[in-house]
Amino acid sequence: MKELRVAIVGATGLVGQKIIDILTERDFPVRSLTALATEGHGRSVDFRGQSIPVQSVESADWDSIDVAFFAASNEASQRYAPVAARHGVTVVDKSSYFRMDPSVPLVVPEVNPGAIGESRIIASPNCSTIQMVVALEPLRRQYGLTRVIVSTYQAVSGTGREAMDTLRRETRQALEGQPVIPSTYPTPIAFNALAYCDKFGDEDYTGEEWKLTRETQKIFGEALPVSATAVRVPVFVSHAESVYVETEKPFAVEDVRELLAGAPGVVVVDDPSRGAVPTPLDAAGQDMVLVGRIRRDLFVDQGLHLFIVADNLRKGAATNAVQIVETLMSRWA
Ligand SMILES: NC(=O)c1ccc[n+]([C@@H]2O[C@H](COP(=O)([O-])OP(=O)(O)OC[C@H]3O[C@@H](n4cnc5c(N)ncnc54)[C@H](OP(=O)(O)O)[C@@H]3O)[C@@H](O)[C@H]2O)c1
Repeated sequence: MKELRVAIVGATGLVGQKIIDILTERDFPVRSLTALATEGHGRSVDFRGQSIPVQSVESADWDSIDVAFFAASNEASQRYAPVAARHGVTVVDKSSYFRMDPSVPLVVPEVNPGAIGESRIIASPNCSTIQMVVALEPLRRQYGLTRVIVSTYQAVSGTGREAMDTLRRETRQALEGQPVIPSTYPTPIAFNALAYCDKFGDEDYTGEEWKLTRETQKIFGEALPVSATAVRVPVFVSHAESVYVETEKPFAVEDVRELLAGAPGVVVVDDPSRGAVPTPLDAAGQDMVLVGRIRRDLFVDQGLHLFIVADNLRKGAATNAVQIVETLMSRWA
């Protein structure tokens, strides 16, 4: 298989570091790795036993790159991704900047690999969207979906490295009886739950909630009504989601369990009698989307409840991005 010259923009961040781990874990064919961030600042990253110096993205030599993972900020993607693409680089973007651009495919390989066309820039969805569509796609295909209502319980790592430090510090301050000074979020996150993961937008829904609505519709290619409440909780890694769906066709709960158990990227963890329900700690560090609490609604016959949990840094970000390139490579072969 052809080895690729890979760049990571945001190589010092949480997602960038996870991409480095995953390239190694999956034995991805890397000819060279270029680590980019705002500035080098004398920093380096470790890749397969090698120390790679971090360089400023400003000075990147795009002609020497085949594939670039952008895991930085919307501003960095807006500014540098089109430049990289013009130099023939295939860009997989983890920021939200290009996601709703009609000319840019928004891809989850288990769900819509066919959406990858000729675009040099491919967007990877928001972490909370990815895990939800992986679990809902088999139900959509089999039964059709007419309504989705989702409430999320999102880990602080979804906000980046600084937020993890904030949760550690605030937890220590609270346990030691010191005043808790919020920093990453407007109010303390330790021992708390914040019913806004992002800025408020249209109709009093937050940006994160609109992403769940709009990105799901784009990926499924249908105007499915998706209403979301996104909540930040004091968990370090893995987002959980309580999802309610209504189906077009009738279902048997046992069939739903069986369907999900055979679905790509999904593991069913659903035996309440033995306490088997998915948790963020179970999901952290692995790539599968865990689904449990599968049950019919008490009052709506074609209503179904699910609890969906996945590692936001892996399947929600780094793994999905690497899988997009693997999908492309299978076409290039
Ligand atoms: N965390 C998640 O669960 C998650 C999930 C899905 C998508 N994402 C998206 O992935 C991206 C990275 O998130 P993260 O959690 O890894 O954040 P992070 O831990 O805060 O890391 C941000 C990285 O981006 C770099 N960066 C920031 N601005 C830059 C610029 N203008 N030019 C070049 N590099 C720049 C930083 O470099 P310096 O070290 O030089 O500052 C750092 O390497 C974001 O777009 C985020 O929305 C995150």
